[in-house]
Amino acid sequence: MGKGHRLTFLLVCLVGWCYADNATSDDNKPSTSLTWIDKLKKDLFANYDRNARPTQYYNVTNLKLGITMRHVDIDEENSIFSLYGWVKMEWTDDKLKWKPEEYGQLSNFRINPDSVWKPDVVLYNNARGSDNLHYGQTNAIVYNTGKVLWVPPSDFHSFCELNLRHWPFDHQTCFLKIGSWTFDGYQLNLTNSDEPVIDIEVPNNEWSIRKVTTDRHITYYKCCTEPYIDIQYNVTLQRHSSTHKAIVVSPAFVIMLLALSVFWLPPQCGEKIVLNGIIVLIVTVFLIYFAQQLPAMSGTSPLIVTFYSTTFYLVAVSTILSVIVLRITRSRQCHSVPRLLKSQLDGCLGSVLGVSSSGNLPSEEDKEASGGDVPINTKQNDWCRLAALIDRLAFIVYLVIFVISVIYLTV
Ligand SMILES: *[C@@H]1O[C@H](CO)[C@@H](O)[C@H](O)[C@H]1NC(C)=O
Ligand SMILES: *[C@@H]1O[C@H](CO)[C@@H](O)[C@H](O)[C@H]1NC(C)=O
Ligand SMILES: *[C@@H]1O[C@H](CO)[C@@H](O)[C@H](O)[C@H]1NC(C)=O
Repeated sequence: MGKGHRLTFLLVCLVGWCYADNATSDDNKPSTSLTWIDKLKKDLFANYDRNARPTQYYNVTNLKLGITMRHVDIDEENSIFSLYGWVKMEWTDDKLKWKPEEYGQLSNFRINPDSVWKPDVVLYNNARGSDNLHYGQTNAIVYNTGKVLWVPPSDFHSFCELNLRHWPFDHQTCFLKIGSWTFDGYQLNLTNSDEPVIDIEVPNNEWSIRKVTTDRHITYYKCCTEPYIDIQYNVTLQRHSSTHKAIVVSPAFVIMLLALSVFWLPPQCGEKIVLNGIIVLIVTVFLIYFAQQLPAMSGTSPLIVTFYSTTFYLVAVSTILSVIVLRITRSRQCHSVPRLLKSQLDGCLGSVLGVSSSGNLPSEEDKEASGGDVPINTKQNDWCRLAALIDRLAFIVYLVIFVISVIYLTV
């Protein structure tokens, strides 16, 4: 071997050794086309199965659940409560742990939730049939301790038993029951991390949240020894009904006043029937409105609807009374008022109601008109007083009924 050759060999060896030395000392550094995150993911997900719970089968995965409520609504027609919000889930994935110093001090990264294992936490009382896809596809954050934080926007629709008795001033309590579909409490330990947060972005124009309570249930089924855990949120909603107040409640008072005013028309006045007819028409329109607004309920019907339908009956009875009173006052009577009624007319009932004979003697014109035929006129006058008595009694009875129903409605 010549001298020149030996030198070249030495040089090549030296360079090769230098390269080899470089490679071992900077082993972890990703090549220029890879970032630390790329390298970390490559290492972490090399053997990752996103369908397997990321711990030994005999170890428990702790899941902390929180909820932020952003919007609520109730579909009365179908008795469905819907809640839009953010669910905060936090668990530990034993397979996603690393030392930050080995990866350029990288301590967390974001990832598509489909790439990692997720707990199968769903709404039990779901009103959307088999559709259990409550969560949006937002990124999850993975920390070097193995903690995974996922806060997807969520949409829950649950069945809710509505009680419309106090409609439109009612409040409803609906619940969301959330739990793992397949894991028992020894595999997935579900806990609520903190109190539910109410952060309404755009208020619903009808409902507001009055109260939210949280319950953690541990259920043991007959079949098995392991516990099953679920978390129940009871949400109480209050209806705000200024529109309903204007549309439904104020007219109720007007209808009441009109129905009472009928009895103040003179007994012989035929317009009573017309006024009653108008009231019946108004009430009918309202009943049709209720039939369209409210779902057909079994059990309790709203008090306000009961009020309107009762008014319907009362006005019908009032019309019949008007017919009787008209009949009494307008036709010429041959008989005098029966003695029993006459004694009432002249007695204290008559004087209390202002129809006693002293106040209602036939006037001079009446006497002249009937050619001085006083006995018939007195007879007629008695019948008129009887009609007035019926009207005033009916007025008092109706007033009492209406006052009671107003008290009942407002309490
Ligand atoms: C898993 O369970 C075993 C035995 O119960 C325990 O020694 C170990 O610390 C657990 N591992 C984790 C990560 O909790
Ligand atoms: C579940 O978590 C709660 C709170 O962190 C803890 O008190 C309880 O012991 C855990 N249950 C199981 C079975 O690990
Ligand atoms: C939630 O509502 C249910 C009935 O639906 C009731 O049994 C339970 O006690 C309520 N929980 C709370 C914390 O109020």
